[in-house]
Amino acid sequence: MSPNESAHRPVFVAETLSFLNPRDGGAYADCSCGHGYFAERLAQCIGPTGRLLCLDIDAEAVTATARRLDRFGERCTVVRGSYVDLPAIAAANGFGKLGGIVIDAGCTSREQLMNPALGLSFRVDGELNMKLDPSAPGPPARELIATLSGRELAALFRGAGESARTARVIASAIERSRARAPLTRTTELAQLVEGAVDAAGLRRGTRHPATRVFLSLRNAVNRELPALEEGIHAAVASLREGGRLCVLTYFGTEHALVRQTCRALERRCTCPPGLPVCACGRESVVRRLVRDPLSPSVREVDANESARSARLHIVERTTTPM
Ligand SMILES: C[S@@+](CC[C@H](N)C(=O)[O-])C[C@H]1O[C@@H](n2cnc3c(N)ncnc32)[C@H](O)[C@@H]1O
Repeated sequence: MSPNESAHRPVFVAETLSFLNPRDGGAYADCSCGHGYFAERLAQCIGPTGRLLCLDIDAEAVTATARRLDRFGERCTVVRGSYVDLPAIAAANGFGKLGGIVIDAGCTSREQLMNPALGLSFRVDGELNMKLDPSAPGPPARELIATLSGRELAALFRGAGESARTARVIASAIERSRARAPLTRTTELAQLVEGAVDAAGLRRGTRHPATRVFLSLRNAVNRELPALEEGIHAAVASLREGGRLCVLTYFGTEHALVRQTCRALERRCTCPPGLPVCACGRESVVRRLVRDPLSPSVREVDANESARSARLHIVERTTTPM
């Protein structure tokens, strides 16, 4: 694999920069900096007195970003941590309220996918691990495969968009296989899924039949959806009035979760219907700048395969206290 093929290419860079509108002297955060490709573009916009806080839960990503941003000196702070803890991390590193935040979490970077020790890809042989942060509680993927019941496995795969029938077929194949010997390798699981789906005549489209199985395991192992919802609340709480949050999502359940979370933060009165006057006094905490999340242009999809399913959600902080 050439260095270009193994390097991550961030999606929606122009749109995200245009909505965040980073200025000289402003304070910003890239909450899932990966290897720092987008962070570098942001750092170029903040002038000599601006500040950028970069976070990631993956230690290797943090090291790579710190190296990439080294030339910006003290203007950039790179920290290992989760966006769930953004307010505390920002305060601990001397950041006040932020003018703009990006969360690009819904997919793993290409560097992570190609890392056999993480075991994230059905194309790269490695132990079925998938933990981006080894210190986080919870089991690795091989343990989920070994211990969840057939019904639980099928429900997990359905959560990532697999059809009920295909999810059942794959879960049964896993149950049969693990009764003979534990399933511990990525390529072993990929081949098993491929064989089961083909034998049942269920292969559809050009996507690898194990795509959703791997996605659902990665989501479960890293608690990705609950963390993303918490992360959006943490980010909104860290924005100054008029500050903006851009969230990139990559698959159906994630698009829906971010959409609902942003909508809930925008909601005003939540009194039961029928009350003559509002009793809750609730006001919007954010304003959605786009009603429907943005889709990538055909040009971007042609140039970058990861953009295919990406969506961009953008909200702006109001004056309502949280
Ligand atoms: C698609 S990559 C980001 C790539 C980055 N935008 C770039 O331009 O290089 C997603 C990153 O989110 C990180 N991540 C996942 N969950 C996280 C969390 N709860 N807090 C912080 N980072 C997280 C992953 O480790 C991964 O590096």
